Amino acid sequence: MLSTNTYSLPTTIFLVLTFLFPSEAQLNATFYSSTCPNVSSIVSNAVQQALQSDSRIGASLIRLHFHDCFVNGCDASILLDQGGNITQSEKNAVPNFNSVRGFDIVDNIKSSLESSCPGVVSCADILALAAESSVSLSGGPSWNVLLGRRDGLTANQAGANSSLPSPFESLANVSSKFSAVGLDTTDLVALSGAHTFGRSQCQFFSQRLFNFSGTGSPDPTLNSTYLATLQQNCPQNGNGSTLNNLDPSTPDTFDNNYFTNLLINQGLLQTDQELFSTNGSSTISIVNNFANNQSAFFAAFAQSMINMGNISPLTGTQGEIRTDCKKVNGS
Ligand code: HEM
Repeated sequence: MLSTNTYSLPTTIFLVLTFLFPSEAQLNATFYSSTCPNVSSIVSNAVQQALQSDSRIGASLIRLHFHDCFVNGCDASILLDQGGNITQSEKNAVPNFNSVRGFDIVDNIKSSLESSCPGVVSCADILALAAESSVSLSGGPSWNVLLGRRDGLTANQAGANSSLPSPFESLANVSSKFSAVGLDTTDLVALSGAHTFGRSQCQFFSQRLFNFSGTGSPDPTLNSTYLATLQQNCPQNGNGSTLNNLDPSTPDTFDNNYFTNLLINQGLLQTDQELFSTNGSSTISIVNNFANNQSAFFAAFAQSMINMGNISPLTGTQGEIRTDCKKVNGS
């Protein structure tokens, strides 16, 4: 006879809570183990290949995952081209236009996967896997990427304009954009450590170089030797799209030098240096820890990448598995 005690009390509480709060991501590391067992090596080989001709591409790929996840969750909405039902693409949003890159590599990875396992691996998961490969191939940590995301059917340009942090913002504003997607202060500091590789155009930090906030002087939290180099590379009224390394010490290596740079006022973006130079901020001790202990940074970074990758994924029967990452199926 079925008694009312079929489940123990803790199990019953778990089931009730799961029913009431089903929002937790249902991703897992073995999602493709039977349907596309080589997915990780296919992605990693493609990233490795791309790095041989473009030392910046790893940085560009992890940034795509970040800009995807902060807008409508990690659903590959950033990859959709404008056209048809996509009237305002995220690619054309202010933080992305003429800035994010790596779409061609994502398309190459997708083609290889469509040959090996047609219709199986989502574009959103490709971005998560490519981000991990980019970091580990550049000297950083490895982690088990959680998988099972599906691809969205829409883009949200207005969301990209409002939700992605700007390099001119206060630390308080940037923090609130992270907390809006469930990421805390440790996530903010750890993930900012991705600026240990890649480039930035002059236009995103030149406000610091000559007349910071109308003072007539450079940002006082810029190391004077570093300032002179930056002023030379980004002269007043010069070309705003000139590139600079985000990490002047080891530009293409994933290490904790981003944090040691902050300690000597060599953060490139205003929002980088603010993590260490904002008086009384709880971010300061985290920066110190990561600067002094690369293993602590690597462990925190891997965990924060998992946290970021868990932002509102589509799972189960939601969305679709796109055949072409640039287009919604059938469009
Ligand atoms: C905290 C707030 C952040 C702000 C304000 C910010 C801003 C920027 C800006 C302005 C650039 C230069 C873009 C260009 O020159 O076109 C950039 C580059 C980059 N960002 Fe961030 N970012 C932030 C957080 C992150 C996070 C969380 C990640 C990844 C986990 C990330 C990864 C990168 C990488 C790797 C690059 C170099 C990309 C390349 O060389 O193509 N950023 N970021």
